[in-house]
Amino acid sequence: MIKKVRKAVFPAAGLGTRFLPATKASPKEMLPIVDKPMIQYAVEEAEACNIKEFIVITGKSKRAIEDHFDHAFELEHTLKRKGKEAILKEIQRLSKHQFAYIRQGAPLGLGHAILCSKAFVNDEPFAVILSDDIIDPDDNLLGEMIKISNKYQATVLALQRIPKSEIHRYGVIAGKEIDKNIYKISDMVEKPKASDAPSDLAIIGRYILTPDIFNILEKTLPGKGGEIQLTDALKTQLKRKPVYGYLFEGRRYDGGDKVGYLKATVELALKNPSLKDEFREYLESVMKRSNNG
Ligand code: UTP
Repeated sequence: MIKKVRKAVFPAAGLGTRFLPATKASPKEMLPIVDKPMIQYAVEEAEACNIKEFIVITGKSKRAIEDHFDHAFELEHTLKRKGKEAILKEIQRLSKHQFAYIRQGAPLGLGHAILCSKAFVNDEPFAVILSDDIIDPDDNLLGEMIKISNKYQATVLALQRIPKSEIHRYGVIAGKEIDKNIYKISDMVEKPKASDAPSDLAIIGRYILTPDIFNILEKTLPGKGGEIQLTDALKTQLKRKPVYGYLFEGRRYDGGDKVGYLKATVELALKNPSLKDEFREYLESVMKRSNNG
């Protein structure tokens, strides 16, 4: 019987060193893009795929995430009194979902963060969403991945073509395209040098994982950077059963990187109906000014 993807895990226990000092006392996942924290975009992506349970892996200084998705009775009461119905509805919608928070004692790596969710996920396929990878909300990346995972009953990783100069920051796959944009993966390398990368297909922050990954993670030793790497566990899984990749051709921004974060902010502001005209005008005036030296 096909088990549906009903749960999403949001690893959010990393230190966010690329965004210091902003991330010293507040979580990277709470940095806003326009008017929502990055993790809210991620949660909404899962909501759009009918996912009902949200499991957040947190660490030190991450309390703001729990507060963000919790009820805020005083605020809700005030919004109601002031007739601010639209924003009230949005806030209430999010706090009605079932959220679980698991503390990762120490940032021992993405693989270890996912392993922390074992008891909550149990024996069913689940989504993993890295909220600092911002996917354009108009693209249905996760939905496509769930379809592929249902069809093949297997793990599916999101892939994107990445230029050589940046490939050393990613896990990179070797594989064969078996259907349009669907790859059967034959190997993976975590953060290779450009000269050692098996392709330009990098793994980005969306995964549908089958639950056997937990037993593998339990036996995975620390790898690159002394961290328990998800890529190493996926390599083991790959030896036991097929693992697939889905090549995403839409827009993605690396919100954990300063320039990526700025790009996401500009692009999403230009899509926001209440901001776009004024903001476009402003950007044009900035361009004119910089062209004039
Ligand atoms: P990153 O590689 O982006 O690390 O982690 P980071 O600590 O968040 O940021 P930098 O590189 O120091 O700036 C990828 C994802 O895995 C999570 C992070 O929260 C992020 O969503 N993660 C990483 C954990 O939850 N636990 C870990 O031990 C490591």
